[in-house]
Amino acid sequence: MLNFKYKNPTKIIFGKDQISALQQEIPVEANILLLYGGGSIKKNGIYQQVKDALSQHHVEEFGGIPANPEYEVLMEALKLIKEKNINYLLAVGGGSVIDGTKYLAAAAKYNGDAWDILRNSIYTLEGEALPFSTVLTLPATGSEMNSGYVISRRATQEKLSAGGPGLFPQVSVLDPEVIRSIPKNQISNGIADAYTHVLEQYMTYPVGASLQDRFAESILQSLQEVAPKVMSEEFNYTAAADFMWCCTMALNGLIQKGVPTDWSVHAIGHELTAYYNIDHARTLAIIAPSHYRYNLKYKKEKLAQYGERVWGIECGTTEEKALLAIEKLETFFHSLGIKTKLSEYTEDYNGTAERVEKTFKDRNMLGIGERKQLSPSDARSIVEMSY
Ligand code: NZQ
Ligand code: ZN
Repeated sequence: MLNFKYKNPTKIIFGKDQISALQQEIPVEANILLLYGGGSIKKNGIYQQVKDALSQHHVEEFGGIPANPEYEVLMEALKLIKEKNINYLLAVGGGSVIDGTKYLAAAAKYNGDAWDILRNSIYTLEGEALPFSTVLTLPATGSEMNSGYVISRRATQEKLSAGGPGLFPQVSVLDPEVIRSIPKNQISNGIADAYTHVLEQYMTYPVGASLQDRFAESILQSLQEVAPKVMSEEFNYTAAADFMWCCTMALNGLIQKGVPTDWSVHAIGHELTAYYNIDHARTLAIIAPSHYRYNLKYKKEKLAQYGERVWGIECGTTEEKALLAIEKLETFFHSLGIKTKLSEYTEDYNGTAERVEKTFKDRNMLGIGERKQLSPSDARSIVEMSY
């Protein structure tokens, strides 16, 4: 096992009717900005629950943060934070609203051009951001219990990430009832995103961290088990609760401690969202199978272990099991209604691979992945395999 430090200060309040707990959790003297997305919270009653919980607090509001939170829109929110002397943020939404809120928490205390934080991947230390909490409305990203965020800038077709220990939410409320109103395509996105988060922290090479491996495998198996239940028309609270907690546990730091991590699928996938506005989770389903086939030589032990333990593959050599495991992964994405080829999302895909290669070179991303050896030209080959 590799050496590690682990601190996660986010308080989770999990369960039915728990949004009301915000009343005690947020200091009554706080000058709050409630941030939300395109308006789903006004239709499904979550907005009203938040307003009721905060009836004794002073609350300003900013809505309209789009999926893949947009820099220009967030700059409007930043103006409001400064004008109204806001000192506490409350994100009510999915990963996009929570990520946008994290960026604002950092930007509000940053002296200088806010885009620099992303351009230079500036780390936000403890005490360097506004305090904030979240009400999660869409299980997927794990943003409710981690300190990273991803921001898009459509004008320049960039999608960049940053973070730091100062950007853990103080409190996150996770009420599985919110899943009732989520459209099925967003539920499948959530499953695929969380599943790939686990893979990014698992599909590397063995380091003897058997507890982390088994944590990871159990999240994958739990997601596979709940998938048909949360995708079915009838709402099932037990499955919704399992799904929600799986997504949080997939990316709250726990399973990545003491093991090498990859994150190449995300790095390449973010480019596909930046160029073609493809949903985040779907970009991962496009890239992951090709990435694992391309890197079979380096990843076959863990791929075979995944095949054996998660899919029950018993026969064959390590390499045969590894290849079959990749097929199982692809079939799983398909079972969620998620297509796994770039050409199934856009007709305009020619040149994507070269563009990714150039972008990675320009950003000095010369060696990514768990061995820091995947070059921009390797990334190009992986994207070509994903057409
Ligand atoms: O905007 P509203 O109207 O709220 O609608 C949203 C949005 O259209 C809707 N939705 C959310 N909760 C709902 C609901 N609709 C009905 N009922 C509800 N209860 O769902 C749509 C998608 O929401 P979004 O927040 O964009 O989805 P997601 O949670 O998948 O977040 C995606 C963003 O997170 C980033 C992605 O790159 C992307 O920008 N990620 C953040 C990570 C992190 N911070 O750790 C890690 C991830 O790998 C990912 O990169
Ligand atoms: Zn993701």
